[in-house]
Parts: sequence; structure tokens; C-alpha cells
Amino acid sequence: MKKIIFVAGARPNFMKIAPLLRALKHSAAVRPVIVHTGQHYDNNMSAAFFSDLGIDQPHYNLEVGSGTHAEQTAAIMTRIEKVCLTEKPQTVVVVGDVNSTIAAGLVAKKLGICLAHVEAGLRSRDLSMPEEINRMATDAITDLFFTTEPEAKRNLLAEGHPAEHIHFVGNVMVDNLLFQLGKCRRRPPSGRAAAIKKRLPRRYLCLTLHRPSNVDIREVMTGIVTALDTVAKKVPIVFPCHPRTRAKIDAFGLSGKFSSTGKSDKPLTSGICITDPLGFNDFLYLWKDAAAVVTDSGGLQEETTALNIPCITIRNNTERPITVSTGSNVLAGTDPARIVALIEKVLLGGWKKSSVPKLWDGKASERIAAILTR
Ligand code: UD1
Repeated sequence: MKKIIFVAGARPNFMKIAPLLRALKHSAAVRPVIVHTGQHYDNNMSAAFFSDLGIDQPHYNLEVGSGTHAEQTAAIMTRIEKVCLTEKPQTVVVVGDVNSTIAAGLVAKKLGICLAHVEAGLRSRDLSMPEEINRMATDAITDLFFTTEPEAKRNLLAEGHPAEHIHFVGNVMVDNLLFQLGKCRRRPPSGRAAAIKKRLPRRYLCLTLHRPSNVDIREVMTGIVTALDTVAKKVPIVFPCHPRTRAKIDAFGLSGKFSSTGKSDKPLTSGICITDPLGFNDFLYLWKDAAAVVTDSGGLQEETTALNIPCITIRNNTERPITVSTGSNVLAGTDPARIVALIEKVLLGGWKKSSVPKLWDGKASERIAAILTR
């Protein structure tokens, strides 16, 4: 039996390993070992996702926590090396582009273990993003590439990787999304999200914001919030707020621009309504019916494309170009006037026609499982 370590550390990783583990659950050929690096550790950034997404308890939690990039990457490397030496897996599977991805990849490769990267080959060409460095460095040492869109294969070929190591399998995020959407339709959540939804009008927006390039710079963050505040006079914006962003809102004195969703029954007719981070299903329950999603997340650009929901991305570039060329995503940058103009376009019903990219069909994990099992 093949032993395969699956590594996850930060919130967007959990959505990617969940369908992979489901696809291998009854495999007689593979024994999965789950390693949580502990990069994210708050209940609503981590444990809530394990239970929501039906992921078994990790076999190892490395509990590295927050720190500088060097501290975090180094701590993951030191701790995961011990796990690899104990478990002696044939393959280590890493997903996405977070610090846990490159840290685990470096360790596996140097121990001579086969390294598989799910969501390989994506490139924003923006080296000011830590994720772009993680993507490039991970792919430089990856043995087995699993890609989500044709552009990713072109990037990997241009970087000199052999075509026979690259597998276009589709998108595991979409596998997870479709699976959870089915659950959500059969049994809608009853907690915090349901309470918020009840108070919303038919038309509302959802917002996520956490990229350092947006939230760590006072002028940029103030510009974005001012633009959203203008729009929110007409249509309410639900904003589950990342801890990094919450700290910056306070530091930049912007909290007056937000209203808390609180516990009242009062309708949420306007304003940016801020809440703590929501679990996957709670947030899905809200954004699946939104008029548009405004975001700087990578995953939501793909998920909105999969459901044909207008997405306005507060970034100048994207490593997921198919969401713009085929999907429902438009890059807004950080110019407040452009953000307002794009949201107004959605509200006037003038959004572009979009379609769902090839192989984003909910079966990517099965394709990956078949290759890993071979
Ligand atoms: C990380 C990923 C990013 C991903 C994001 C999703 C890297 C380089 N970045 O960014 O690609 O989109 O996760 O959230 O890996 N914090 C908490 N509780 C937590 C986790 C973090 O309070 O459970 C706070 C800490 O103050 C921490 C800060 O958030 O310093 C940032 O966390 P970190 O893991 O460094 O990066 P993210 O911004 O979450």
C-alpha cells in the first residue's frame, strides 16, 4: 500500500485536500496521512473548516502558528521533516501557494520523496506577492504537476518541465464547491449565516479582503473602503473579515465605516456589515445568492466562475486568467472609481456573459486519485 502525506496549513488549503481525501477514502492502494501545519489556528480559520468540509482529524498538527515568512516557513520545515522521516511516505502532496506548500515541498524533495503539486503552474508574474514566490519555487522542484487550466501547462512547459509530468485534471476547489453546495441546498445552515441572510434584502454583495498589498497599506485600504462605502449606501455588503484585515481596520482608524451584523433582527439594508470569519458552508450560503462578490481571494475568483456569479477582483493581476477570459471575473485593481463603476455595472445588470472552464466538473479529485494510485 502506498503511503501519501497530504499537507494543509492555511484556510484555502482545506477546501483543496477535502475532496482529494474523499476520493481516496476507500482506496485499497493508498493510505493517506494528513498533516496540518498549523499556519492557521483560530477555530474559525481552521478547525471549523475541518468539520464543515468533513476532513478527518489530522494525523499530525505541527502547530507552527504565525510569524514572519522566514520564521513560519522554517518552523514548518523543521517539524514536517520529522514526520517524513517517521512516516517514510512514497509521495507528499502539497496544494496551492501558501507558506506551508513551499515549506513541505522543500523538505519532501530533499528527502528524495516524490513531490506532487495540486494547482501547479499558475503564475501572476507579480513577485511582490509571497504566493507567487511560493508557486514558482514549489513548481521548480515538483515531480508531478496537477493543473486546473491550459495556461498552467503552457507556463510549466516554458519553464522546462516535461509534458509527461503535467496532468490537466480540472479544479479540486470546484469539486469541493459542488459537493458542499449540494449539502447546503439539502440542509441550509441554521446558525449565524442564516440569521444574517434573513435580514438581507434580495440584492446584496459579499466581500472578502485580506491581501497584504490591499490591507497593509493605509492609502490603498482607505481607498478601497471609501469606494465600498459609496456603493453600500445603495446595497448592503456582507463582509466576513480576516484577522489580518480586522487589525488593519483598527490601526488605520477605519472602523467607523463598518457596521456590525450584531445580534439584532433589524434589516440590513445598507452599509458594510462586518462579521468574524465564517465557516465554508456559512459563507457559501450567503455568497451563492449575492448579486456579486468583491474579493482579493484566489479561490473565490474560481468559485464564482464555477457558479457564474459576477466577481470583481481587487487586484491588478491574477494567476487564474481563465476566470477572466472565460469566467465571470473582472480585475478592478485598487482604483476607487473603477471599483465603484464595476459594481454599478453589475447592479445595472450589465455584466459579461461567462461560462464554466473545461474540466471544472467536480471530478478533478477522482482524476488525481487515479494517477496517484497508479
Ligand atoms: C495566508 C496565505 C495566503 C492565503 C491566506 C488565506 C501565505 C504566504 N499566505 O495569508 O496566500 O490567501 O492565508 O487566509 O501563506 N491570524 C490569526 N489567526 C489565524 C491565522 C492568522 O489571527 O488562524 C492572523 C495573525 O495575525 C497572522 C495574520 O493573520 O499574523 C496573517 O496570517 P498568515 O498565515 O501569515 O497569512 P494570511 O494573511 O492568512
